[in-house]
Amino acid sequence: MMISVKRIILIALCAAIAASMLTACGSKESTSSDQTSSAAADINSGIVSTADTPSDENSEGIDYMALVNKLHPLPDGWEDAVETVHVTNSLGDDVEVEKKAYDAYLALKEDLEKDGVKVDLDSARRSVADQQRIMDDFTKEYGADYAMKTVATPGYSEHHTGLALDLYLNIDGEDVYLNEDMVQYPEVWAKIHEKLPEYGFILRYLEDKEHITGYGYEPWHLRYIDNVDAAKEITSKGITLEEYLGAVNSSDVEIDLGNSSIYTEEELKEAAVQVKCRFATFKGCELHTLRYAGDDANNEENLERLNLLDEDAQFIQVVEFTSDFHTPMDGSEVFQPDREMTDYQWWLAREADGGWQLLTWGY
Ligand code: DAL
Ligand code: ZN
Repeated sequence: MMISVKRIILIALCAAIAASMLTACGSKESTSSDQTSSAAADINSGIVSTADTPSDENSEGIDYMALVNKLHPLPDGWEDAVETVHVTNSLGDDVEVEKKAYDAYLALKEDLEKDGVKVDLDSARRSVADQQRIMDDFTKEYGADYAMKTVATPGYSEHHTGLALDLYLNIDGEDVYLNEDMVQYPEVWAKIHEKLPEYGFILRYLEDKEHITGYGYEPWHLRYIDNVDAAKEITSKGITLEEYLGAVNSSDVEIDLGNSSIYTEEELKEAAVQVKCRFATFKGCELHTLRYAGDDANNEENLERLNLLDEDAQFIQVVEFTSDFHTPMDGSEVFQPDREMTDYQWWLAREADGGWQLLTWGY
């Protein structure tokens, strides 16, 4: 995947600013970014040599465990390597799915039908343009905050892989496919979720894991990982793919939202989720507090500074959070070992009608 000019400029600016911000602990914002990039390189090779995966005769080398999330885009070369099939669902829609994931889905579906549970495929592989359309529709219908919690940024959706499958239900002969209707059937989802690992699937967006995955609970969104043992371990431990791959720390705290006369609680929580997801990549660090820094941060000076970080954006509002956290005993690529980092800053901004973007962090 190409890195956009906008992103290159952002990284360069962060590096330049950060060079002047080195703290006693050796922490600076660009090194935070660097830490994430190196984690991405380790985890997200995306394409593997077929010799390494003898069981994947038809895979042409895709890595079924590839991590695609808010911080990890679709790996380079994926589109050339992935093999897919097209199927038509009961609504008459064309659905494209990675080949092995589809075979596994058919076996799961057959097994579920024996228990009287009927499912169909709502959506699987999506192009970046498809994802953009969904993002635009959701933003229009529900607002930017809800859209960002529910729909991945184009380029960063697991659906691009063909390995993510959204199911819908058929209850008493009626198709149930709207999110708000599907969540009314927790007992049906429980039956489905129980069978997933046996077929190499995991549930990707768990309840209470939004601080890691960045998304709310989605009982319909399955991820095929082509590894029954790993799927069983992930499911029985109730962990996310991020945790299984060791890509994150799992620490979480209540957010101190203070009092804002500008933002609602929901808006601040939405911004804080982005901070938490980024913090989760600070390997071995433990979060102690996360606080909204107050309405004063939403001023012209900060807006100007953050607008400089993204030449294409026109940010109109700013939010600052501060946090205290502890660095690991054995140190990390970025921080000195066993240090309490206090009042560490996180800056987000948003455009008119846009969602929060975490732009910079550090001292
Ligand atoms: N609903 C998931 C997060 C996606 O859009 O990829
Ligand atoms: Zn999905």
